Amino acid sequence: MTRDDALALDAEDPLAALREQFALPDGLIYLDGNSLGVLPRSTAARVQQVVTEEWGQGLIGSWNAAGWMQLPQRVGDKIATLVGAAPGELVVADSTSVNLFKVLSAALQMQQADAPQRRVIVSERSNFPTDLYIAESLARQFGCTLRLVNSPQEIAAALNADTALLMLTQVNYRTGHLHDMADLSAAAHAAGALAVWDLAHSAGALPVQLNADGADFAVGCGYKYLNGGPGAPAFVWVRPTHVSRFRQPLSGWIGHAAPFAFTPGYQPAEGITRYLCGTPSVTATAALECGVDTLLAALPLGGMAALRAKSLALTRLFTSLAETRCAGHGLTLASPRDDARRGSQVCLARDDGAYAIVQALIARGVVGDFRAGDAADGLPDILRFGVTPLYTRFVDVWDAVEHLRQVLVSGEWQQSRFNQRSAVT
Ligand SMILES: Cc1ncc(COP(=O)(O)O)c(C=O)c1O
Repeated sequence: MTRDDALALDAEDPLAALREQFALPDGLIYLDGNSLGVLPRSTAARVQQVVTEEWGQGLIGSWNAAGWMQLPQRVGDKIATLVGAAPGELVVADSTSVNLFKVLSAALQMQQADAPQRRVIVSERSNFPTDLYIAESLARQFGCTLRLVNSPQEIAAALNADTALLMLTQVNYRTGHLHDMADLSAAAHAAGALAVWDLAHSAGALPVQLNADGADFAVGCGYKYLNGGPGAPAFVWVRPTHVSRFRQPLSGWIGHAAPFAFTPGYQPAEGITRYLCGTPSVTATAALECGVDTLLAALPLGGMAALRAKSLALTRLFTSLAETRCAGHGLTLASPRDDARRGSQVCLARDDGAYAIVQALIARGVVGDFRAGDAADGLPDILRFGVTPLYTRFVDVWDAVEHLRQVLVSGEWQQSRFNQRSAVT
C-alpha cells in the first residue's frame, strides 16, 4: 500500500463527500473523534440562531414557539435511529455519568423487587473509570458488590445466580474491543441478570441494535462520534417493557408527569420522559442536533452499515501499516485484529514513551491520544487512534502512520518538551 493507493481509495470512496460537513482545521490529521468529535459546519450558525433569535428575541416564549421543551425527545428520536431504538424510547439529558446513575439505580430496584438475592454487578476492570465509579457508589447504596473481570473472555463465566447486572461499555475505551451485545445480553438474561450498556464509543461509530440485541438499559455520549461539541448532553434509553416500572432517583420536575401543574408531590411521567431531571440545556442540545444530523446525512449512502464498512477498512489499514512500517520500535497491537471484535479505533501498547510519542505526533499535526496504563492491574500505556468514517480519509491514515514511523526512527519523542504532562491527556 503506497500513499497513492490510499489517495485512490479516497477517490473512489462513496462516503467521501460527508467530510465536507465538517470545519476541520487545514492540514490537521484528527484521529481523536472518539474523544471529541469535529465541529460540524452547521453548528455555529445554529447556535447563533438559538442565542440571538430564539433567546435574544423570543425570550421565554421560545420554550413553546421554538420547541425548546421538546428538544430532549426530538434529538433523542434522531439518535434512536442510529442505535436500533424506536421513536419515543430515548431522550437526551445530562451527562453519561449522570444517566448511568439513573439506569443503574432503576435496574437495581428491578432486581431488588424480582430477585433480591442478586447482589453483584459484573463489569470489566478496564471499563471507563466513571462507569466503575458510579457503579461502586450504587453498589454501596444497594448493599451490592462490584465483580470486575480482566478480559472479555471471562465475562460469561462471571455471571451466575448472584448477579444482578452486567454493565459493559460496548466498545472498550482502552482496547477498542467490541463486545457482542446480543450474545452477552443473552448470557446475562440466561443467568437472570439485566444488561446495561454504555454506547460512548459505539453510538455513531457502528451499527447498534438495542432492541434486537436484547439490551435492557443504555446510555451514551454526545460529544464523541455524535459530534455534539465539548460537554454535549448525553442520552439514555430504557427497554419499553421496563421503563415505567421503576422511578429513576433524580426526580426533577422535568421528569414529572405534569411539570407545569406545580404540585408538591412527585409523579413520574410515563415512558422515557421520566429519565429527564432538570431544565434541558437548550444551546448545547441544539449543537448536538447538528452533530447527529451529520450522521443522518449518511442514511441515503448506506447509513451506519456503510460507515462501519469504511471504519473497518480504515482501522485495518492503520493496523497493517503500523505493523509493517513501524516494526521493531516496541509497539504491540492492543486492539482486536478480528474485524468483528474491533470498534472504530486502533490501540498500540508500548512499555515506555507512549505519552511522549503521542505528544510528538500532535506537534506534527497528527492528533491521537494517550491512555495511561496501570502496572498493578496489568494494563499497558496505550497510544489511541480513533477513526471517524464521516471525515477520516485513507490518506490521513497513511500519513499518520508515516509520521509515527518518523517520530520513532528519529527518536524526537525523547525531547523533554514532549514529556510535560497537561491536565487532559
Ligand atoms: C465509556 C465512557 N463512558 C463515559 C464517559 C464520559 O462520561 P461523562 O460525559 O459523564 O464525563 C467516557 C468518556 O470518555 C467514556 O469513554
